[in-house]
Amino acid sequence: MSTPQDDGSKNSMGISTYLTVPILVGLLLYVINKKFGKTIKNWLFASFWNRAMKEYHATMRDMKKSHFDSMLQHKSTDADLRKRSVLRVLEIGAGPGANFEFFPKNSKLMVVEPNAFFEPMFYENQHKYPDIKMEKFIVSSAEDMKEVEDNSIDIVVSTLVLCSVTSVERTLSEVQRVLAPGGKFYYWEHVHDKPGTWLHLVQNLLSPLWSFLFDGCNLNRSIDQTVLGCKGFSQVEQKRFNVPLKNGLWGFIRVHVMGQATK
Ligand SMILES: C[S@@+](CC[C@H](N)C(=O)[O-])C[C@H]1O[C@@H](n2cnc3c(N)ncnc32)[C@H](O)[C@@H]1O
Repeated sequence: MSTPQDDGSKNSMGISTYLTVPILVGLLLYVINKKFGKTIKNWLFASFWNRAMKEYHATMRDMKKSHFDSMLQHKSTDADLRKRSVLRVLEIGAGPGANFEFFPKNSKLMVVEPNAFFEPMFYENQHKYPDIKMEKFIVSSAEDMKEVEDNSIDIVVSTLVLCSVTSVERTLSEVQRVLAPGGKFYYWEHVHDKPGTWLHLVQNLLSPLWSFLFDGCNLNRSIDQTVLGCKGFSQVEQKRFNVPLKNGLWGFIRVHVMGQATK
């Protein structure tokens, strides 16, 4: 026969067991997230991105090709490279390597990409383009490209990257530092729709969740305005356009800008 005291101590044991398990699980998840959270997110994003973008890249291929075609006319400032019709290209945030086909043959390519899980995918793709000579794959962010020398690059390329960098201004200032005088920055980015539209509002509301789900990508950056306001480019040519992908999540990033800024 149990006394009321026995029942009381059983109840409190039961409650403490109920509390202990979730607290321990919570603590374990916290420690795992603190220690490996970034690595797990990077791995997930790299695996997801390669598959998710097939439709996008196939749809945009011709438009991207005509955007990048003018690189073929560009001449290196390095006399030796110019003689051999070679350009030194730096791609920031290259991911799995979506742009090899747009680079002039014989380009010397350097990459700055913070997610190391993209590196094996990038090299797997690069093998299909033996005319592109790989110089270096630097695991770092574009805001801090100290391994790249001042005034050493003919062309810098960024596609769908400036939405994710921590600071667009710092990235642009690094791009300017590494570009040789007369060098060009080619960008292709999704941007915030113009004020007063539904999409502008929705992008503002959705951006925090979107950024959490998609590796820090912001829906509401007016990247074109930031480039225009950036001192140090002698000329900026850019245009906004809507990508012909509207269904599902594509609708939220359909407004894009493509541009070329000259140092
Ligand atoms: C949306 S993916 C685009 C990948 C590729 N450029 C493309 O067009 O498919 C964004 C890329 O930017 C990279 N990234 C994120 N933050 C960055 C930063 N601060 N500096 C350079 N790259 C960054 C990501 O790791 C990822 O590879």
